[in-house]
Amino acid sequence: MKRTYTILLLLIGILLQKSVAQDAKMKAHVDGLLKKMTIEEKIGQLNLPVAGWVPTGTTVSKDTEDKIKSGQVGGMFGYYDPVRMKAIQKIAVEQSRMKIPLFFGLDVIHGHRTIFPIPLGMAATWDMALVEKSARIAAQEATAEGLNWTFSPMVDIARDPRWGRISEGNGEDPFLGSAIARAMVKGYQGDDLTQNNTLMACVKHYALYGGAEAGRDYNTVDIGRSSMFNYWLPPYKAAVEAGAGSIMTSFNVVDEVPATANRWLMTDLLRNQWGFKGFVVTDYTAINEMTAHGLGDLQAVSALALKAGVDMDMVGEGFLTTLKKSYDEGKVKMADIDLACRRILEAKWKMGLFKDPYARLDESRPAKEIMTPENRKASREIAARSFVLLKNENQILPLAKTGKTVAFIGPLADNHRDMLGTWVIAGEWEKSVSVMEGVKNVAPQLNTLHSKGANITDDTAFIHRLNFFNQPMVTLDPISPETMLRNALEASAKADIIVAVLGESQSMSGESSSRTDIGIPESQRKLLEELVKTGKPVVLVLFTGRPLTLEWEDAHCAAILNVWAPGTEAGNAIADVLFGDVNPSGKLTATFPRTVGQIPNYYNHKPTGRPYNGSYQTKFQSNYLDSPNYPLYPFGYGIGYSPFTYEEMKLSSAKMSGNGTLTASVKVSNVGKFAGEEVVQLYLSDPVASISRPVRELKGFQKIMLQPGESKVVEFKITPELLKFYNYELKYDWEPGEFKIGIGGNARDVKEQVVNWEKSVRP
Ligand code: NOJ
Repeated sequence: MKRTYTILLLLIGILLQKSVAQDAKMKAHVDGLLKKMTIEEKIGQLNLPVAGWVPTGTTVSKDTEDKIKSGQVGGMFGYYDPVRMKAIQKIAVEQSRMKIPLFFGLDVIHGHRTIFPIPLGMAATWDMALVEKSARIAAQEATAEGLNWTFSPMVDIARDPRWGRISEGNGEDPFLGSAIARAMVKGYQGDDLTQNNTLMACVKHYALYGGAEAGRDYNTVDIGRSSMFNYWLPPYKAAVEAGAGSIMTSFNVVDEVPATANRWLMTDLLRNQWGFKGFVVTDYTAINEMTAHGLGDLQAVSALALKAGVDMDMVGEGFLTTLKKSYDEGKVKMADIDLACRRILEAKWKMGLFKDPYARLDESRPAKEIMTPENRKASREIAARSFVLLKNENQILPLAKTGKTVAFIGPLADNHRDMLGTWVIAGEWEKSVSVMEGVKNVAPQLNTLHSKGANITDDTAFIHRLNFFNQPMVTLDPISPETMLRNALEASAKADIIVAVLGESQSMSGESSSRTDIGIPESQRKLLEELVKTGKPVVLVLFTGRPLTLEWEDAHCAAILNVWAPGTEAGNAIADVLFGDVNPSGKLTATFPRTVGQIPNYYNHKPTGRPYNGSYQTKFQSNYLDSPNYPLYPFGYGIGYSPFTYEEMKLSSAKMSGNGTLTASVKVSNVGKFAGEEVVQLYLSDPVASISRPVRELKGFQKIMLQPGESKVVEFKITPELLKFYNYELKYDWEPGEFKIGIGGNARDVKEQVVNWEKSVRP
């Protein structure tokens, strides 16, 4: 024992020495460069133009290659073509005076070429190994195409499904969100960022971007300090602690100051308290936008951003065009410019770019490493595990592979484009598997019928807004809606079961895609009503980038399988689940409200002074005249083909003290006919504290596999670490007293027990 301990200490010592030596080497290299650089060249390193790919703002970069030659560019984003990028890197390292290599970034969000489920779907797997694997594959493919930096993970907590970017995040919970943040960083960066198959992660959008008021993208945010620390900031902190190399500012204000000029956020908290060692990049033209926030002209806001802790300016060129002037006028110091430039150069060192600027620019890699059968297989397996079965009356699912006639109806049934979801720059929708193709692959003997039945939407003005950059993402079918409906009903008449494949198209969620009506679009809803009227069982396969309002669908469809936007292997994965080769095990990470009027509706809300949980309105209680408070589907919810039962939870003790460890255990049984996975969730609450604490908070989860008839005892170890929160003074600690502990299959169905936890044993 003693020997192992000594060896371990020795090893840690050696590693520490190695890293100190590495740091010293890096410092010497960067010091050397800084000494030789002119102020213009230093500012140039802080400039990040966009090229190649479509922009996400109204400004576009110009004359980039000339700027590279004259040392005015630190990195670029938008390209994913190693031949072109190699030529550009050559300009930087051969034709610019300082010969400093460039970064190459891109939004690689849920896969690069092989697309995985949208992040909200990935989160629904609750499987950190799968999350990490998807990021690893994305890094492998992206580096094969020349990239060394991704603008991911997006770890913004979101409680408002009107916000289109809820699709790009992990949902509403900070504990789960933190675990996913760590897994993504690990998957992208691996253990050694100098390896040519790793990508530097960029955590975004720091901070609180998901708190946009009214769910309107880019809108203002109003969140108090302790709330920020307890519910919104943990995932960014987790990503930083996992070693993320960079972080992106958000467009919104944080405590009244735009994030991009918020020194408290970027310097006091991020660097001084959390110990972040990487660099900060703005979001797209976020510096320039601070003029509209009311903080001054471009020169003023650029100086503010630099002094607050921004190192790199995305697209807006506020740094490039004004920092020298600010320096000459004494408004910024050389030390501020040096510090930002140092951080950029250090990142390049950490990526191994000074050693070999071409390490990830190998033209022979794409042919071997992109969309390999293994990558597609992983995408299929992960997608199937992201689906959430919301309803399954009379065990209508899984469907038999032969025997019955099944009509697949809906605009998403034979569709490729919308399989991938939002933010898929390099993803090729033409290579995705449609639902009909998947059904043919998995159940070739099945008697199937297909009919489109409706347009995604009939609203031409809405279609125009969906088809940004003139891409025909959503089109009106030349056949009239009436004829499409008639054809669909004819097909349905010949079927035993109807599978309605409906929902949101790709551009209905994602950036700048907020909605005030989050139902299935009207044209499709009308179709669904007609299908239900046939009296045949209707299985709804639902595509969505956000929680939708589904009260009517829940009341009228026999089954609802929520498939998000599953990625390249969509159709195969959906068929795997529909026909029972995979038992669905996904669980929601964002609450599905009954109506838009209930929003925000999230599980870890605070109690009110007049709490209410009933169904009907009671005067002078916190409720609605026309709706219950509770959502349609709670956080953590999702069923499978086999029911799981939970026995009474057991606590190792009802009284605890000091740093003891409490064990909470529960026996979970698979009482159905299918082997399946269940996500067992641990919830805690602190009903008496110095500040009002949430009614319930997720503090642990385990995904277990159970064979039919099998039971397992699942144990959670609870230490005071899990009881901690930020109090009004932002002190992170726990307060003694009563705690409620519960284990369940979702945030609603949890039976709690009380434990008394004192700071120390009472005399
Ligand atoms: C704006 C988005 O907010 C951000 O997430 C993205 O990384 C940048 N555009 C770059 O495309």
